[in-house]
Amino acid sequence: MYLITGATGNVGSSVAGSLIERGDKVRVLVRNPEKVEQWKGRVEVATGDLANSNTFRDALSGIDAVFLMNRGPDKESFQAFVDRAKTEGCQKIVFLSSLAANNPELSVGRMHKEKEDVIRASGLAGFFVRPGGFMSNAYQWIPSIKAESVVHNPMGAGQYAPVAPEDIAAVAVHVLTSDGSTEEILEVTGGELLSVPRQVEILSRLLGSQIRCVDISPDSAVQQMVQSGLPKQVAEAVAESAMFVRKGAFADVKETVAKVTGRAPKTFERWASERRAMFA
Ligand SMILES: NC(=O)c1ccc[n+]([C@@H]2O[C@H](COP(=O)([O-])OP(=O)(O)OC[C@H]3O[C@@H](n4cnc5c(N)ncnc54)[C@H](OP(=O)(O)O)[C@@H]3O)[C@@H](O)[C@H]2O)c1
Repeated sequence: MYLITGATGNVGSSVAGSLIERGDKVRVLVRNPEKVEQWKGRVEVATGDLANSNTFRDALSGIDAVFLMNRGPDKESFQAFVDRAKTEGCQKIVFLSSLAANNPELSVGRMHKEKEDVIRASGLAGFFVRPGGFMSNAYQWIPSIKAESVVHNPMGAGQYAPVAPEDIAAVAVHVLTSDGSTEEILEVTGGELLSVPRQVEILSRLLGSQIRCVDISPDSAVQQMVQSGLPKQVAEAVAESAMFVRKGAFADVKETVAKVTGRAPKTFERWASERRAMFA
């Protein structure tokens, strides 16, 4: 039995969906069961909050392997989750980490590396899926695209290789379902280096309308993220990573998706065209 956390999110929903299609036994840990109605009768649903160890203890009973999300800076509940998984006889944790874990000078990097180390210290078999920037980060642009045909960009012309959540999920499913001989760290990116202005050009073309890309400072980016509901600490960490992208520090393409799945990673153009209606 697999326990999938983050099953209502970009990556976790695809991990759960793929395992269900394979016919595997799946339990999802969700805060709101209504959000997983589409899998009714096909998955076990455990209601719980990763921030509160009293609510997730039972969800780990009888679980062989877990797909685990990082839900924030708090280490205590994360430690409690990993301890409980071990007590319950879980064999494997596949953790959704970040490529930034290679950069402990970044807050986002530390936040993921520290969690990886909790899993390593537990003695459980830990596998760390480290993606770069997600294509789904483009969802954050939808309000300003719809309101004023603008994307506010703190990353300048810095390039990175945005990756589709479903490709990250494919790597995670491979590790979850394999016999444990995969590498401990799997770095996952898309197949093409793109800047934000280039992604916006692609969206403009798909939508048949002109979207402007406006450069903004890290401070303005933090302000906008806080206004949209992100805690200040998280907004500052994200803006710090954006500055890394701006200076080209994440301009790297990794081969993991092709190696694991035998096919090329999804392009941004294809990913966006599949979701065109959301941006229109
Ligand atoms: N975005 C990037 O570019 C990027 C790059 C590298 C790594 N990452 C990693 O990927 C993660 C985001 O993955 P994603 O895009 O798939 O996530 P997402 O779509 O933002 O969804 C977050 C998921 O986590 C669940 N969740 C949040 N807090 C929870 C809690 N306290 N208890 C239980 N569940 C909780 C949410 O459930 P609800 O439906 O209840 O809200 C949702 O299913 C980041 O946090 C980071 O660790 C992201």
